[in-house]
Amino acid sequence: MLVAPSILSADFGNLAEDVRAICEGGCDLVHVDVMDGHFVPNLTIGPVVVEAVAKAATKPLDIHLMVENNAFFVDLFAPIKPGFISFHMEEEKHPHRLIQKIRSYGIRPAITLNPHTPPEAIEFLLEDVDMVLLMSVNPGFGGQKFITSVVKKAQRLKAMIKKINPKCLIEVDGGVNDQNIKALEAAGVDVVVAGSFVYKHPEGIAKAISALK
Ligand code: DX5
Ligand code: ZN
Repeated sequence: MLVAPSILSADFGNLAEDVRAICEGGCDLVHVDVMDGHFVPNLTIGPVVVEAVAKAATKPLDIHLMVENNAFFVDLFAPIKPGFISFHMEEEKHPHRLIQKIRSYGIRPAITLNPHTPPEAIEFLLEDVDMVLLMSVNPGFGGQKFITSVVKKAQRLKAMIKKINPKCLIEVDGGVNDQNIKALEAAGVDVVVAGSFVYKHPEGIAKAISALK
């Protein structure tokens, strides 16, 4: 299981240090939540801060866009050279075009689905993406409760992926901990995002990451 800690739960007063801590603690990706105050009722960070995160990180960035005007934000973040950029299917009229744009920058494209969106919505895009991110909370905030229906959704998506694009990864984001991760692994999930579990673990960041792995 790959682990992508979300820096949304980091101490933004000591951000570089908190990014180094997850990289040294054995994470695989650094999950960066970009929120615009329109698509979701919260506002986070832009390219100036993400650039600083990239400097501190020794693992690829996994940028999760929760914004309107996805193409604008892809152009804005592309020069930072993240490993992945994901966008919400619910917010995109031209997902296929956007996927091509992300790939043209040499960045791996991913699509995100909110808790209510069925995996069938992206059946005809699956061959073009490297990862599908399934939300297991409503996007906008860290520290929310895990929505268990994501397990069934991951199972259904896995069956589709096996037929259409076996290399495509499944990532789950929101409320993940060392207990519910077992059902996710059994469902075929490849990557978990964890914010509060990693940054607020009583035994520290490295211990939290190894507990998830
Ligand atoms: C929610 C974000 C998540 C969040 C996860 O909109 O996409 O990445 O930070 O935090 P936890 O693990 O605390 O739910
Ligand atoms: Zn996220």
